[in-house]
Amino acid sequence: MKIIMLGAPGAGKGTQAIKIAEKYGIPHVSTGDIFRANIKNNTPLGAEAKKYMDEGKLVPDELTVRILLDRVAKDDCKNGYVLDGFPRTIVQADVLKEELTKLGEKIDYAINVDVPDENIVRRMSGRRSCLNCGATYHIEHIPPKKEGICDQCGSPLTQRDDDKEETVKNRLKVYHEQTQPLIDYYEKEGALKNVDGTKPMEEVFADIIAILG
Ligand code: AP5
Ligand code: MG
Ligand code: ZN
Repeated sequence: MKIIMLGAPGAGKGTQAIKIAEKYGIPHVSTGDIFRANIKNNTPLGAEAKKYMDEGKLVPDELTVRILLDRVAKDDCKNGYVLDGFPRTIVQADVLKEELTKLGEKIDYAINVDVPDENIVRRMSGRRSCLNCGATYHIEHIPPKKEGICDQCGSPLTQRDDDKEETVKNRLKVYHEQTQPLIDYYEKEGALKNVDGTKPMEEVFADIIAILG
């Protein structure tokens, strides 16, 4: 099963993708997580990506596509995957479609987690992330058991550099200009499914499971 998560920054793509990956036994592939891991490890790719991420801009398509195609070519992606944060532009969606077509494959579901802009800024300011294992929390809605510590792996939780209010506003603008058109794109492909992302996390997940079966 090949799944794409669509939705604005902070809509809950990552939160749901992790749960989907666990339930269906497929890898969770997040381009944002890959870039952040590279920044943490001071790689050249990380340095390049950081320039764009800190301003809320998209990392150039060429670089992002290469990273993503390398990742999904790995063995663990043979039975499918859930893509979180990719594609984010029509160019990226076209490349993915081309590559899959070559293999006689396609995206089965594009799940659009729908959350209006008003809710987004509040969610982002309360987000805390684990850079070690990728788990995400919210200080009000989804708090860790012990403040500032990851439930999964015990590492300290941090606030993402791009979760500052000004950067979030930029990310939303970029989302509306470049990524939102993908909703129509996957509608035409017959893969689009909308879920209401303003519901509590477990309800959103139940709605997604009802779609995936
Ligand atoms: P990326 O890491 O993908 O960030 P994003 O799309 O901005 O999305 P977020 O991770 O911020 O939000 P999310 O939807 O995953 O929400 P989450 O589950 O955490 O990308 C970062 C940057 O990398 C980009 O800006 C760009 O520069 C670059 N990049 C990445 N991919 C790229 C690409 N393909 N092309 C070019 N550049 C790329 O939830 C948010 C918060 O809400 C959390 O605190 C969570 O606990 C809480 N929450 C979740 N669900 C609920 C709920 N139902 N109710 C209440 N709270 C909830
Ligand atoms: Mg995310
Ligand atoms: Zn962790």
